[in-house]
Amino acid sequence: MPGKMRLLFPLFLLGLVLGTQQALPPPCDSQIYCHGELLHQVQMAKLYRDDKEFVDMPMSGDPAQILQRFDELAAAYNHSIPRDEIKAFVSQSFLVKGQELDPWLPEDWRERPQLLYNISDPSLRAWAEKLHKLWKDLGKKVKPEVGSQPERFSLIYSEHPFIVPGGRFVEFYYWDSYWVVEGLLLSEMPRTVKGMLQNFLALVQRYGHIPNGARVYYLQRSQPPLLTLMMHSYVTHTQDLAFLRDNIKTLALELDFWARNRSLSVSVAGKSYVLNRYHVPYGGPRPESYSKDVELADTVPEDRRETLWAELKAGAESGWDFSSRWFLGGPNPDLLSSIRTSKLVPVDLNAFLCQAEELMSNFYSRLGDTSQAEKYRKLREQRMAAMQAVLWDEEQGAWFDYDLDTGKKNTEFYPTNLAPLWAGCFSDPEAPDKALKYLEAKQILKYKRGIPSSLKNSGQQWDLPNAWAPLQDLVIRGLAKSRSPRTREVAFQLAQNWIRTNFDVYAKTSAMYEKYDIDKGQPGGGGEYEVQTGFGWTNGVAMILLDLYGDQLTSGTQMAFLEPHCLASALLLSLLLSLLAQ
Ligand SMILES: *[C@@H]1O[C@H](CO)[C@@H](O)[C@H](O)[C@H]1NC(C)=O
Repeated sequence: MPGKMRLLFPLFLLGLVLGTQQALPPPCDSQIYCHGELLHQVQMAKLYRDDKEFVDMPMSGDPAQILQRFDELAAAYNHSIPRDEIKAFVSQSFLVKGQELDPWLPEDWRERPQLLYNISDPSLRAWAEKLHKLWKDLGKKVKPEVGSQPERFSLIYSEHPFIVPGGRFVEFYYWDSYWVVEGLLLSEMPRTVKGMLQNFLALVQRYGHIPNGARVYYLQRSQPPLLTLMMHSYVTHTQDLAFLRDNIKTLALELDFWARNRSLSVSVAGKSYVLNRYHVPYGGPRPESYSKDVELADTVPEDRRETLWAELKAGAESGWDFSSRWFLGGPNPDLLSSIRTSKLVPVDLNAFLCQAEELMSNFYSRLGDTSQAEKYRKLREQRMAAMQAVLWDEEQGAWFDYDLDTGKKNTEFYPTNLAPLWAGCFSDPEAPDKALKYLEAKQILKYKRGIPSSLKNSGQQWDLPNAWAPLQDLVIRGLAKSRSPRTREVAFQLAQNWIRTNFDVYAKTSAMYEKYDIDKGQPGGGGEYEVQTGFGWTNGVAMILLDLYGDQLTSGTQMAFLEPHCLASALLLSLLLSLLAQ
């Protein structure tokens, strides 16, 4: 109950200080957006349905003054400020969310890119044209005042305009942007892509890594590392080698972050290997989900709170926030409070880095720097060996997350178990066909509306029955690398399933979603917030598949999708029409 929480704030702080466990550093320095009593009191008062609302609100004045006013208020009420007073304080000291961004019409947007002409089915082509138009709704530009007075905003200033995911996500995100970038290139918008890359590169220059998204409260966590791949897609499209040359050192800097801050050594059969994990050693509740994190922490022993909060942030860093994938093997594998993200060595993360190392080696070769090319070639070689020894399972034909606590693989199904195929991080030419056998053995192909995120229905958004666009891509374009026509046919069928789910839901709702419920064939649910529309990466993946299979994909025969009673009325109608015609 919020009232009780307010009374308890001094105790809450005391608990952090006196707790048997040493407090980890806060998620960022801001005493308004990241930690401190103001944030605590406001978020626990639950003024908004979504905690992200408050931390996205710009300040109406100087932060020092706002903090001082708040301290006076807190003192006046002996730290149990009535909710109405908190509400009044917030509306006096903060502006409505979204003021710091302007809508932006991408300058390189043109009608009818080539992609559309390669799509045979007229309904799909018309739909693709709408997807292409959606970039115009998702373009944003940061207002100049965020650059001149950054202390008043949680938004991190970015010089170049960008495409956002949509819905509550009005800032740009790291791994989302990869699929957005692919979509933009298919929309023939390399100038927009270049600006987005420049924003990411500037973040690496400034912070040494790319935060989860462009807000200060995301600063200490990153997201699946796909910047090198984005650069590769851009350079392949434009041949802009000068841009690559100017920025290759910054790409290297980002990979250094993953090597320095996110690597660990794993011993298997007496040999030691270096691999990576998601790991965010920062404490405190996530500012954008503050009250949820505080309440969750109430359900665990006090000395586990800080660890819990760090593991939640690591879960956010993985992009899979949240999934039973991260709490399997915990004290209660059904509960989010069992989350232990950093205790797993994830297949997808290591596949992404393996791919990045190969791309870096190729980039440096092209730029004529043979010693750097060699360095990355070696790194990739080492990682391939490590993945083979630690993650690969020959018997099942797939890779599995490695559990550092048990020294065993987590053999549950996740689409990411096949990520090395997508990332081109395998040496056995039969690997895609083994993967197909694995999917058959796990009965994954019986899901006709998309590949689920897992086979466990936990109520979390990265679990059954939810399916996510990037995970479809990981599997589909992985299998598509097979030499076997049968495996490639399955890749196409999976693409067809996913496109139809996207298309059908669009036909009903006129919107694209961040995730889909493949059980009911509707927008996804579960997790911490309402399902969001937009939606950057879903649109990107749809365009990738339309580009890959445009001549074969179909929107589905109208009749097959009619309900029996509709079918009856359709028959009646055609009978009537033929009678009239006579
Ligand atoms: C990464 O590690 C360095 C050196 O240990 C540290 O100074 C830096 O704060 C870390 N970065 C993050 C985002 O945790």
